[in-house]
Amino acid sequence: MPRVTFIPDDVSVSVETGESLLRAAMLADVLVTASCGGDGTCGKCRMVVERGTVRAGQSAKLSDAQTAAGYVLGCLAEVVEDVFVRIPVESRAGAVPLRGGGRHPNPILAPEECAARVADSGSPPPVGKRLVRMFAPSLSDNASDLTRLCQTIRRDHGLEGVTVSLPVLGQLPAAARKGDWTVTAVVAELADTGLWIAGLEPGDTTARQFAVAVDVGTTTVEVALVDLTSGAVVAREAEYNAQTSRGEDVITRVIYGTRPEGLRELHELVTHTISVLVTSACGKAGVAFEELVCYVAAGNTVMTHLLFGVTPANIRTSPYIPAATEFPCVCATDLMLPGGPSTQVIALPCPASWLGGDIVAGVLASGIPWRDELTLFVDVGTNGEMVLGNKEWLVACSCSAGPAFEGGGILHGMRAAQGAVEQVRLDPGTLEPMILTIGGAKPLGICGSGLIDLVSELFLAGAIERNGVFATATDSPRLRKGARGPEYVLVFAEESGTGDDIVLTEVDIDNLMRAKAAIFAGISILTECVDVDFDAIHEVIIAGGFGHYLDLERVTTLGMMPEIAPEKYVFIGNSSLLGARCVASSKGMLQMARRVSEMITYIDLSVNAGFMETYVSATFLPHTDQSLFPRTEKLLAERRALKAVM
Ligand code: FES
Repeated sequence: MPRVTFIPDDVSVSVETGESLLRAAMLADVLVTASCGGDGTCGKCRMVVERGTVRAGQSAKLSDAQTAAGYVLGCLAEVVEDVFVRIPVESRAGAVPLRGGGRHPNPILAPEECAARVADSGSPPPVGKRLVRMFAPSLSDNASDLTRLCQTIRRDHGLEGVTVSLPVLGQLPAAARKGDWTVTAVVAELADTGLWIAGLEPGDTTARQFAVAVDVGTTTVEVALVDLTSGAVVAREAEYNAQTSRGEDVITRVIYGTRPEGLRELHELVTHTISVLVTSACGKAGVAFEELVCYVAAGNTVMTHLLFGVTPANIRTSPYIPAATEFPCVCATDLMLPGGPSTQVIALPCPASWLGGDIVAGVLASGIPWRDELTLFVDVGTNGEMVLGNKEWLVACSCSAGPAFEGGGILHGMRAAQGAVEQVRLDPGTLEPMILTIGGAKPLGICGSGLIDLVSELFLAGAIERNGVFATATDSPRLRKGARGPEYVLVFAEESGTGDDIVLTEVDIDNLMRAKAAIFAGISILTECVDVDFDAIHEVIIAGGFGHYLDLERVTTLGMMPEIAPEKYVFIGNSSLLGARCVASSKGMLQMARRVSEMITYIDLSVNAGFMETYVSATFLPHTDQSLFPRTEKLLAERRALKAVM
């Protein structure tokens, strides 16, 4: 990867080819004025390329003379080789680099690891096509068609006790004769729940078989179309869950489902969303619905109930009992999902009312069931779910974090989409921001990772007190009294994509602090339950909708995650979809998913005596027990000392 060195700071960082100089500066913690989010319109992120070349974008913000002198706009200039870049004084947002050393994008647990594990398992898909070449009958070999089929499957594939439904039996005589006694059987091998032929096709169609992995999220539904002959994802689509029009969170959906026709509506909305995505994915990949052999769905417990049209109403009231933790394998057309008559739907098991198949999929994708080392898996969203353990044991809990990480309950919050501010650095003296948006678009709002950055930067700069209120002594034109109380202006109206100021209020900070406190308290309770220190954790795997650039150091600064070595943190992205993909490709993975579900000991925080006290202690920055966060306290002291001499 090419290396960018910023002078005179003498800080270097390696970035992917094509990365912008501005993002490189953000990674290196070199502060540069940048207020349009990387849109190329504010003209403030000027840099001078002293050595090496970059792919500079065109900008009317630079004169010909400046261009000739090596000036570029940092947000538009792409790195193609090693370069030395000077930040001119007019672009400087801070006097010195604040930490130095250069931070890298979060390490990503590669999907290839999962693919390798699937390959290692050596087992066929839980639903897949098998070629059956039968001997033609004769007067001396007059076994029935069905006997002939079952005998051949046993002989060629070692499958005993295969059952056939009446509709499939009805297809058999014609399929066998049309294919000249060669048929393709869609075989469902769900081990503990049975072995049956879900469909028959004349001839050999085994070269065309696809599965749909589905992450049935409360907010977003994502599908991956998997070619089962190669394991490759041939199309991927995502869309908001249409159920959001009936309520943002799972509790509201559960309540909506108790209305007359409410359950049917919610069921139809989620299946409609999946159908639209699958139709689009199949269209792009040139796959016919009849070539889909199965769906593997991973969702939280409420979403899984709603997908199957089963009421989740009793999950909400004590003693919080779901209708089922394992759902039967059904035909896709029974759920109004695209597919042929043999397309099956498998849902990953949900270990508890508030711990679903999405987390089982995540644990599977992150490889914990194969690890000796103690590993913590944290899925951050409206609900925070945590699983701690290794291949021998797993403990888990879940807590309501609120929608702050997804932009909910935040005045100018938004989901991680184009135009969302995802990275923020502040000049600790003036509080002038350096911001980057998703897609380099004009800022429209702040997403979860941007919010975490912003609040932790304001805290480190001394502009927010430990209890989350703005420090009254702070002098900055960006801190003002707004209609809702004190607020910080991140983007002024003239530079925002909405035409309005984008601000952070004390209510926003309070919502974020509650969310982060819930996550930290959940993790604390898990470690206490098994009597281990944070330091004993070998790796922390973070899943969820956060971007590639979620700054894990800022996460610990806030007190959201334990302050353990930064290199122990790994980001996995949408682990629910990844886990569903693994299961779609291997029945061994499905068995492991069931084992994970059975292994998990679920700790119900609503009846845990220590949870509330732990939670309240965590509703401060970073925590009431400062000894838990020595690195943050040191950073805080350094920042404030730096500010004092500026
Ligand atoms: Fe580059 Fe505004 S022009 S950040």
